[in-house]
Formats: sequence, C-alpha cells, structure tokens
Amino acid sequence: MDQELMSNEENYCFDIAGYLHVPGVLNRGEVEQLNQTIDKAGQLSDMLGWDGELKEPFRELLVHPHLVWYLNQIVGIGFRLDREPKILCDETCDTTAPLIGGNEPRMPGIAYYHQNGRRYCEGVRVIWALEDVNEGDGGFVLLPCSHKSNVASPEDITTGEDDMGLTHQPVLKAGDLLIVALSALQGMRPWQGAGQQRLLSYEYVGRGVIRSAGTGSMTEEEPHPEWHDSLSEEQRASLYKPGYKSTTPAPTIVTDGKTVKMDETREVFHPSIYKLDPDSEIDYKEFYFWDLNGYLVLRGVMDEEWLAAANETIDKFEDRIVVGEELARGSKSLAGTGRPLLSGLLELPEPYCEPFRQMIAHPVVEHRLNWMGASGGRCGGATAFCSVLGGSGHSLHSNNEPLYPPMGYVFQNGRSYDQAVTVAWQLRDVEPGLGGFACVPGSHKAFYPMPPGIRTCDDDMGLVVQPVMKAGDVLFFGDGATTHGALAWKNPISRRGILIKYTSRNFHRSGGDMVHPESRWGDLIAGMSDAQLAVMRGPDRDVGTNNVPRLQVENGQVAVSYERGSALYSKEAPTGPLTK
Ligand SMILES: [Fe+2]
Repeated sequence: MDQELMSNEENYCFDIAGYLHVPGVLNRGEVEQLNQTIDKAGQLSDMLGWDGELKEPFRELLVHPHLVWYLNQIVGIGFRLDREPKILCDETCDTTAPLIGGNEPRMPGIAYYHQNGRRYCEGVRVIWALEDVNEGDGGFVLLPCSHKSNVASPEDITTGEDDMGLTHQPVLKAGDLLIVALSALQGMRPWQGAGQQRLLSYEYVGRGVIRSAGTGSMTEEEPHPEWHDSLSEEQRASLYKPGYKSTTPAPTIVTDGKTVKMDETREVFHPSIYKLDPDSEIDYKEFYFWDLNGYLVLRGVMDEEWLAAANETIDKFEDRIVVGEELARGSKSLAGTGRPLLSGLLELPEPYCEPFRQMIAHPVVEHRLNWMGASGGRCGGATAFCSVLGGSGHSLHSNNEPLYPPMGYVFQNGRSYDQAVTVAWQLRDVEPGLGGFACVPGSHKAFYPMPPGIRTCDDDMGLVVQPVMKAGDVLFFGDGATTHGALAWKNPISRRGILIKYTSRNFHRSGGDMVHPESRWGDLIAGMSDAQLAVMRGPDRDVGTNNVPRLQVENGQVAVSYERGSALYSKEAPTGPLTK
C-alpha cells in the first residue's frame, strides 16, 4: 500500500453506507488456489485448522496486508479475529432467517464510533469473493446506512416481507474484498445465481471487544474460587469471567429496584426511560426510512383531479417558464441545457393558484414536517421544475460534513431535528434511470467531506440514488444535511416537480427587513458605531460562510469586515461602513 491513509472516497463510503468494496485484492492465481483447496478439503468451515498445507492460504488471508491496512483504519490497531471463518452459502446459513444487526438498540461491542476525526468500527465482517456474484444472484445482503440507524429495524425489513427497497445485494468479482460494519443490518438470502456460491467470511472486532468465546478446551469451564460456592446465583453472575462458553453471552440479572432474578435466556436487559408512543401518529416505517436515508417518498397524496388541475395550469403558463443556468458544474454525466423553472405558483391569479395553495399546510404533509423538524416551519414560494430532454442535472450539494446547524439533521430521544426540509410534489411520473432528483442516502449523518466524484456523479461509488416516483407522490428531503441534486433529464416527457422549501423555526435563511438595526430597534441605535450596528442586526441569512457583516480584532482594535465570502450573500447586508 503506497498511500499512508484511506482516501476520502473510501472513508466517506464506509462512513455513510457501512460497507466498502475493494475490487481485485486477490489475483486469479490466488483465487484459484483458495478454490482448489476448498474443493480438496470438501468442507465449508474450520479452515484455519485444516490438515497440513490446506489451512495455509486461509491463515495467510487472516493477515493479508491489504486487509490489515484497511482494518487498522476502520476498526483500529490491535483488531482481532472474533470467530472462525466460514463459507457463506445455502449449506452453512439459514437463508430464511431475519437479517441481524442495525444500530438500535445499540450494541456497543460492534457499534460505529466517530468523534473529532477518529473512527472505531468495533466489529466488521470481511468477505473475500472467491466466485463472481452478479446482480440478482442473492446470497449475502445488507442494508446500507443501517450501522447508524437510530430507529429499530421494522420486522418487515428484517424478514424481507416489505424491505421498502432498502436491501442491497453487493455485486462482486472473484478476488474482491468487501468490508461490512457488523452493526449494519445483514444476512443471507437464497442463492439464485447460475454459478457457484463462494463467499469466504471472517469476523473481526476491536482489541477490547467481548463478543464470542473461543473454541479452545480452556473455554469449556469457567474457573472460580471456592468461596463463590456459598454465593447466590445472582451474586456469582456479578462476578463472572468473560471469554468462557458458560459466560458467553454474559449472564443477565433482571432487576426492578427491589429484587434480583436471573434470566436464563440471557437476552440483554437494559431499561429505558422511554416507551414507543403508539399515539404519536407517526408511521413507524416512514420514520425508520427517514432517519436511515435522509429522504422520504409518500405515495399518492394528490388525486387525479388535483393533478389534472395543477398540470393544466403549468401548460397554460408555459410561456412564463424561465430557462436558468446550466447546473452540472463541470460534471460529464450531468451536462446538458439550462434548468427551466416556473416560479410564483402561489401568486398566480384565481383559480390557477388553487392547486398549489392546496399544497400549503396540507394535513398529510404538514404532519410529516412537524415530526421531521417540529412546528413553526415556514415555506417560501412554490416553483415548478420543468426540465426537458437533454436538460442538465444539478451537481450534488449539501452534506453533514462540515456540520452546519441551520440546515443540519440531529436525532435525539425519539425526535428528528431537521432544520431544512424541501417538499417536492410530483405532477408526472419519475421513471427509473431517466433523471431527476437524486441524493446520497445516509449523507445526513456523514462525518467525511463529499468526494468530487459524488458531487459530479461521475464516480459515485454506487451511493447516489434516484428515487422512482409516480405522479401524485410527495418527496421530502433534508436539503441542508442530505447530499442531493438532480441527474440529467433523459425522458422525452418533461419534468414536473413542484418544490417548496421549508425553514425551521430556529434559523433564518433569507434575511429580510428585520435584519436592519433601525427596523429592529428604532431610535435605540441612534449614533452607534459600525461595530455596534453590526451586533444590533436582526437574524440574517445563515447559509454558507461570510455572508453577513462581522467583527474582527486586528492589533487590539475591533473592526467590521464586510468582505463577501459566498455567492449566497445576504441581500440586506451593507457593502461597507454605514456611519459617516
Ligand atoms: Fe438543493
């Protein structure tokens, strides 16, 4: 490995999606040797102890230099093998079992940690593909982003009954390496492929993680001093030594504040002060999807009549469509013509404004806005996005890194705190692969900067999603936290999305009259200096950096800087000193 550290692309991908695909780590000869050895052994597990030379290639893989290099950075130095490797396939796995993993409730011993640029993914599954896995082959599947999920996985998703389109079956070539966070929801599905199924899986954990007992004879019996014999079962359970079969998983003492009682199932007992609220009127699966991905689609909110009225209005005012700038910003895949917009839909004359005014404070939508970011959100106007065949996409923008509070996403104690949500009403079908809104699921929790290939979509590592929608569907996305934009429009039928941006009660994103000190304070500010006036301003445009007058200290003196740092400069901001 000639680089010292993983690239930002690799960090970003593992960070937001919970897995990393490293192609071509093993060459054809190495893959062949492993396959022949498995065929010779005629077994699918216990390979580290196979006879004679048979075990050697599997022992070498255990500390393959490429793998060590990645795991030092992903798990942390001192990572260990948690359990013996095995071939994942229909013979060794229950392919009808629900997926396991997910980050709620949190399992600290396999969880994903990140703070101040330091990461510890305490548990990973490492898969070496020894045969190709094509699209639709089945076998190993995972749910991207679920290593950071704050909401417990719905049963429909773990069983596959209704996975909401979230399950991902990685496509691999023989010789590829796949590293998956153990806290990501994952499991095995029946093999449908024409070829042989051969995924070699090792599970590694952090240096201090207690997860499974080993297989040595020492693990059979936990030693204990004689005096333990006179203790109660619960007392002995409090004094257990980890690492033995009888103490893995750890014993569970159930408590109620008055009594102690052993629970033989050993399920984790971890009381909470909260209970799921069945009266919250929040659809649980919607909430899960939103927290996981940073966007949500509600199906069929508009009926035929409403859709027809809205579409007829756009047809009628087609001559008011203004073709704006090309927004591909240097991307090859997003390049095309400028973006046609029809704005001011709420201000159209009666009755044409009606189908759009109906979108404001609509009970179905307003309820979602309330649970996504609390009451008090306010919207600007409604604008139709009318891209035509050959129209450019919009280079992807926004991300949770760097953190930006006025537009960020936080989950705490069962609540979503998204400060900036855009609602997009679909007046026409959005077909698969034909362009339109696109986003990076999970980017609202990113800890690494957005890579250039994501911004342009020219090298998106399979992380960019273009949701398929029907006319009448409504899309929500965190427009400040979730990385989003649009793919080039490839449909001969032009796009018809009505975008309405909501800003939270907590921050200003546009400024306005009350920014000016005299509007806000009246005579109180008379005779103030520029520095004083700078701090007497009202809430101003809080988008990007350096877009309001601000104080600087130079040589012990306070001065006001009016320097413009961003294209989104506050309209109300003065260009220089106000006082004479
Ligand atoms: Fe945007």
